[in-house]
Amino acid sequence: MTTDKKLSGAGLRGQVAGQTSLCTVGTQGSGLNYRGYDVDDLADNCIFEEVAHLILKGHLPTQTELDSYRAKLSGLRELPAALKAALELIPADAHPMDVMRTGVSMLGNLEQETSFEQQGDRVDRILALLPAMVVYWYRFAKDGTRTSTDTGAATIGGHFLHMLHGEKPSELHEQVMNVSLILYAEHEFNASTFNGRVAASTLTDIHSVITGAIGTLRGPLHGGANEAAMEMIEQWSSADEAEAAILNKLANKELIMGFGHAVYKERDPRNAIIKKWSEKLAQEVGDEVLYPVSVRCEEVMKREKGMFCNADFFHASAYNFMGIPTGLFTPIFVMSRITGWAAHAFEQRANNRIIRPSAEYTGPEHRKVEPIAERG
Ligand code: COA
Repeated sequence: MTTDKKLSGAGLRGQVAGQTSLCTVGTQGSGLNYRGYDVDDLADNCIFEEVAHLILKGHLPTQTELDSYRAKLSGLRELPAALKAALELIPADAHPMDVMRTGVSMLGNLEQETSFEQQGDRVDRILALLPAMVVYWYRFAKDGTRTSTDTGAATIGGHFLHMLHGEKPSELHEQVMNVSLILYAEHEFNASTFNGRVAASTLTDIHSVITGAIGTLRGPLHGGANEAAMEMIEQWSSADEAEAAILNKLANKELIMGFGHAVYKERDPRNAIIKKWSEKLAQEVGDEVLYPVSVRCEEVMKREKGMFCNADFFHASAYNFMGIPTGLFTPIFVMSRITGWAAHAFEQRANNRIIRPSAEYTGPEHRKVEPIAERG
């Protein structure tokens, strides 16, 4: 491989690798839209289930369609006994993303997708179960509690918070979860979605598509950045301390998690939205450290590197203010992005050709196998 990553086309940056009608990134409207709707319009006017319906079923639901979709999803929240038993076997020090990966894989054994006609139902089931999968394991591993999945919550975000904290969340927290899930729902050919499309192009089952995508999202350069950002900002007790530490990291050429983007060049349109909610939550909890630290990081990165926060940065403080443990940050991303992953798989299946690019070879010249005694 050539050492100049910028000249080699490394990372497939800027190359069109297929078609989609699901999403545009950095080209229209506010910079991110799902099936033609700006993400800020959706975040201001919809709950996540409406956006899930838009992405998965192709249009924003009518009230009747929304009511029946929510009723369907609520009716699918009970974890199968065999899945609970499997979750109870996962060690307490496992990473929650690995728990989700295993959970979806186990579900694929229990409720197989044997025909593509089942794809919509299988995905609705995964969408409904993901919050319970991770929270059931989390609470069992922490203190042996076998959490009830019967919360009666009206939304997926509310259901997640209710199971996690053992009580109905406030309206504000449920609203922030809705916005957050909307912001994370879909993002064109990002790494995990592309991974999912490659898997889908082999005509494998939907659980394999989602399992692979979860594993890809887990990395700190992708979805794992919200967790990595939290681990960074929680070390600092004041904005001045944060500024000095960021300057030091930059001098050492370290990556600052939650900044930069492979496609956006000037701003990530999701940042202003989640930043506003993080500020609101900071006021609610009386925070005088984490939010000012986060704002200072944003200012310093802009001033020093001309870089901006991506969606993950202010998600870190927002989730923290709602009492969500850091390890569960990226799993929330999964609860949302399942919609985008699945819709891309459906799109790939509908007009499939196996994804099989070529590589530029940089290894040795053609040669013959030497007898084993003559190899040095
Ligand atoms: N902190 C410090 N420097 C950064 C940076 C960051 N977060 N992100 C990019 N840079 C630097 C790169 O090191 C590179 O420097 P160089 O030219 O001296 O090698 C330069 O900025 C250009 O990077 P670019 O080519 O635009 O990045 P990329 O497209 O290869 O990678 C990310 C994009 C998102 C993976 C990268 O910005 C990153 O690692 N960010 C932190 C992780 C993160 O927040 N991920 C979530 C993405 S939504």
